[in-house]
Amino acid sequence: MKTIVIIGGSKGIGKAISQMKLNLNKVINLSRTKPDFEHVNLTHYTCDILKDELPDLNSVDALIYCPGSINLKPFTRLKIEDFKTDFEINFLGAVKAIEKYLPLLKEANSPSILLFSTVATKLGMPFHASIASSKSAVEGLVKSLAAEFSPLIRVNAIAPTVTNTSLASRLLRNDKTKEQMIERHPLKKYLQPEEIAEMASFLISEKAASMSGQIIEMDCGITTLKV
Ligand SMILES: NC(=O)c1ccc[n+]([C@@H]2O[C@H](COP(=O)([O-])OP(=O)(O)OC[C@H]3O[C@@H](n4cnc5c(N)ncnc54)[C@H](OP(=O)(O)O)[C@@H]3O)[C@@H](O)[C@H]2O)c1
Repeated sequence: MKTIVIIGGSKGIGKAISQMKLNLNKVINLSRTKPDFEHVNLTHYTCDILKDELPDLNSVDALIYCPGSINLKPFTRLKIEDFKTDFEINFLGAVKAIEKYLPLLKEANSPSILLFSTVATKLGMPFHASIASSKSAVEGLVKSLAAEFSPLIRVNAIAPTVTNTSLASRLLRNDKTKEQMIERHPLKKYLQPEEIAEMASFLISEKAASMSGQIIEMDCGITTLKV
């Protein structure tokens, strides 16, 4: 049985990944709140990735880092503090988790790391200066570590468009904003967390043994198609 460590497996995309992988894997969740589901293969540690020391574990086959932010403001209203806060949760938290569990990943059979970016690194959109900058750093980290850790540890990221989680609840707050979001995307949809869990499951599996340093755009066409 593989051990999958998910930072932020209690909600949103991380929860969908946890629930998809629990039957056949050991899932270790680190988040500030306890997941609202239980399973014999699930272990939870209450932990703030930015403040707390991360728990010592026995083995890690895959490390998935989910915490992130959607802090959309005009540049004139973005303070240096906003940039720092977004950088800490999107980027430095991931660095901290990788630093902590790298020795265990090195001992695993076919280990991998999965991070999250956003479509806003590819598509310039107003009010995204802070989050696009932080996630661009995540993409740089993915490329760099994928090279540095090859051939032993694969490192990839998924860059989703708007996904139906609590993080995006303001963007999907009513039927009108949901309809507008659907209309903005060439595939006439936005994402459900379970769709991303399928991709995450593939990327950390041996089926993706030839893929490292990749940023997988799950964009419903918004960065790639002009229709
Ligand atoms: N949803 C979207 O539309 C969207 C679009 C593009 C990119 N993304 C990216 O996809 C990733 C996952 O997003 P999501 O929508 O699933 O987010 P979410 O619903 O906010 O879930 C985030 C998870 O991370 C945990 N978390 C947050 N801060 C933490 C901290 N300081 N320490 C430990 N755990 C923490 C949360 O649990 P606790 O609150 O219990 O700590 C939760 O389990 C993020 O990196 C996000 O930037 C999302």
